[in-house]
Formats: sequence, C-alpha cells, structure tokens
Amino acid sequence: GANVQWGGRFADGPSAIMREINASIGFDKVMWRQDIAGSLAHAAMLKKVGIISEEDEAAIRKGLSEIGAEIEAGTFVFDEALEDIHMNIEARLSERIGEAGKRLHTARSRNDQVATDFRLWTRDAIDDIAKQVRTLMRSLAERALEYADTAIPGFTHLQTAQPVTFGHHLLAYVEMLSRDLGRLMDARKRLNECPLGSAALAGTSFPIDRDMTAQTLGFDRPTSNSLDAVSDRDFALEYLSVLSIMAMHLSRFAEEIVIWCSAPFSFIRLSDAFTTGSSIMPQKRNPDAAELARAKVGRVLGCMVGLLTVMKGLPLAYAKDMQEDKVPVFEATEAMALTLAACDGMVRDLQANTEQMRRYAGSGFSTATDLADWLVRVLKVPFRTAHHVTGRLVAMAEAKGVDLPDLSLEDMQSVEPGITPDIYSVLTVEASIASRTSKGGTAGTNVKREAEAWLARLKKN
Ligand code: ARG
Repeated sequence: GANVQWGGRFADGPSAIMREINASIGFDKVMWRQDIAGSLAHAAMLKKVGIISEEDEAAIRKGLSEIGAEIEAGTFVFDEALEDIHMNIEARLSERIGEAGKRLHTARSRNDQVATDFRLWTRDAIDDIAKQVRTLMRSLAERALEYADTAIPGFTHLQTAQPVTFGHHLLAYVEMLSRDLGRLMDARKRLNECPLGSAALAGTSFPIDRDMTAQTLGFDRPTSNSLDAVSDRDFALEYLSVLSIMAMHLSRFAEEIVIWCSAPFSFIRLSDAFTTGSSIMPQKRNPDAAELARAKVGRVLGCMVGLLTVMKGLPLAYAKDMQEDKVPVFEATEAMALTLAACDGMVRDLQANTEQMRRYAGSGFSTATDLADWLVRVLKVPFRTAHHVTGRLVAMAEAKGVDLPDLSLEDMQSVEPGITPDIYSVLTVEASIASRTSKGGTAGTNVKREAEAWLARLKKN
C-alpha cells in the first residue's frame, strides 16, 4: 500500500528495490539517542511558544522515553518501509500516543532533523575520539619519561643520522597527536550550530524559538541560513579530514613499531597480547596490530574521499545523495577508535631492548656531527671545512673497520693537526645526546621536562 507518511499523494507503494535503495534504517538507527534528544527539544519548544499543548508535549515526552527504553532493550521493531530512524521513531510514537505524536513534526522537516541528529552524533564521536587521543598521549608521555635517557639511533632517510633518546622519539608523536586534538576541537567549534528549525529548506512560518532548541541540545547558537543548514556536511568532512591526518600519524608510528620489532632491529618487544603467531613458522611473533593500524589510514581516507565525492556538485538544498553521508563517518569513527586503542595497548606494553638501542645508537658514525662541531667550536674552523675534515676521518675509520672514537689521536692529527685528545669527549653517544640541550633538542634533561609537562597538562582533562 501507499506510504503512511505521505500516502495522501500516492496511489501505489514503492517497489521492493525502491524501498531497499531508499532505506537508511540499516545504518542510521545508531542515531536513535540523538533523534530522541532532538525531538524532545523540539517538542518542549513547540509547547513553550504555544504551538502544541502541555498535555501533548507531556505525552510526546513520555512516549519518546518509552521508545528509548524499547530500543535499549532490543524490543523495538525497525521497519525498512519506514526508511530511516526518524520515521521509525515518529511512527512508533503515533502508534503509542496517537494524535499528539502526529503533531511532533510541526515546523520541522526530516532535512533539519537529520542534519541536527548527525551533528549531535558527530559531536559525540569527536568527544569520544578526543578522549582516546588524550589517553594515548598520556601513555606515550609515560613511556617517554621512563626512556628519557635511553639512546636510540636517530634516522634521516632511514640511515643513521645522530643519536637521540627513545623518550624524545615517543614525544614526537605526542606533539602530532596534540595537533590532531586541536584540529578536532576546532572542528567541534564550527560544527556546534543547530540546524533545527530550518525545516525543509526555507525556514518556517511558525513562531518557533530556535535559540531555545539550540541551547537545549548544547549548541552554541542556531545556524543562520536555512538552505545552508540543511545541505551543509562540512562538519562531517572536516571531522573525516582530521581523522585522516590522525590516521596518517598513527600509520607512521605503526610502521616504526613494525621496524623496531623486526629481528634485525630488535629495538622493542611487543607483548603477547598485541602479537600474533604464524600457522607454519613456530618462531614467529607478528606485529599484526601495528600493521593494521598502519593500514587503517587507507580506510579512513577512503571515507573522507567518498563523502567529499558524494557532496561534490550537489545543488542546494537537500538531495537524497546526502543520506550517503553517514556510513563513511560511522566507519571512520570505528576504525579510528580501534586504531587508537590498539596503539595505546602496544605503547603501554612494549618493552624496549635498551642495550640493542644503545649499540646501534653508536653505530654508523652517528657522532660525526659532534666531531665537526668540536672542530668549529675549539679550532674555530669554518663549518664547511670541518664537515670536509670529518668526512675524511669517517672514510678513514670506515677503511679501518672501526668507529670514530676508535681512531687514534695520530690518525686524527694526520687529517687535522690541531686536534687534541679533548675531541674524544664529544664522540660518545651519551655526550652527543647530553649536548643537545637547545629548545626542543633530544637531551635527556629536556625530554624529562617535556614528558612531565605533558603528563601534568593531560592530567587536567
Ligand atoms: N534518511 C534521510 C537522510 O539520511 C533523512 C532525510 C530525508 N529527507 C528527505 N527529504 N527525503 O538523509
């Protein structure tokens, strides 16, 4: 038969295919809490301005709270013929309370309703993700404090560059995540305007109080343009782009974990809890969680590109295309939540092989820059010249199969006669690291101070 919501205009009902392609209830039912919250705010406002009676509003409130209980209990029957969460709840409300339920949709359209619900859902997701980001930042800072003085090789081009501390390396990710957090909060601020009351696209002739509904739902203010309000999905795109950057950061981190726990590196050992075995090779400890965390950026970015492509070229105002906005946001949120949790678990559990880290921190002539700096500082040699002299010393050490500190004073002086035994004091990994006290440098004292500052900051929220 014809649709109960708009059957007045139709003689026939939709085909099964029409129904299937049209329905979003399969995925948008997760917004039921937001939908009920939006309807409660709307009903309270309709009562306040005198559009519905106190009795009707009371019945709506009671009915919606009972529907919420039904959904929570799993007894609510979702009907695909009713398309989406909005019509499922509204139809059930009318079924329960009759006429009063049918008055709820006064001065409202599903267009402003869905825009409101989806903003509310995304705002909750932002808050949940932000909480997880802070948790991961805290775990990283805790481990950074623990390893504030632990030497590891610092790389550029994945070639040994200069020694750094493991704590410094971990804190680099805290910095990235703090920017992600800032972007999340920025997105939240821009998202936080209430579309409710924009109605289908043009606003409404009813004397509604949009400030009231906006305030009830925790928005900063109502949106200013009804056409924009029902067709804007920037908030979802901005959220997805923030998640994409965040997923990229975690992908880089995950890649480092994969490298660090490979046998030739053996810098860290992941816990059994975050490792899998092989069905054929008994010795294997595979970092699957890290690999999946590394891969999730593909999924999250796919969601972001998918929605951007859906929105591209849509004329104002609402078009059904926009129903395709939810799955990417839900999917990316789930992927991100899992990735953050997995990264947090790995960080908490990982054991650093500090001896191995220290050994390789000193390999590959990692203190060559310290040698060149000594020539500049003590012999007042111009840096370019010092670079050249050091390059010759490195070539000599390489030819002899030894490290820089193992070259004799004679060998050194054969290249630069001014060199004194004092030079050996700067060639150790420890001296190199301890000397990097410039702001933001890797010296253990810096790292300890930074890690403590982060932990103090993260305690507050
Ligand atoms: N399920 C729809 C969506 O997610 C709700 C809005 C329907 N509006 C409309 N004009 N058909 O977009």
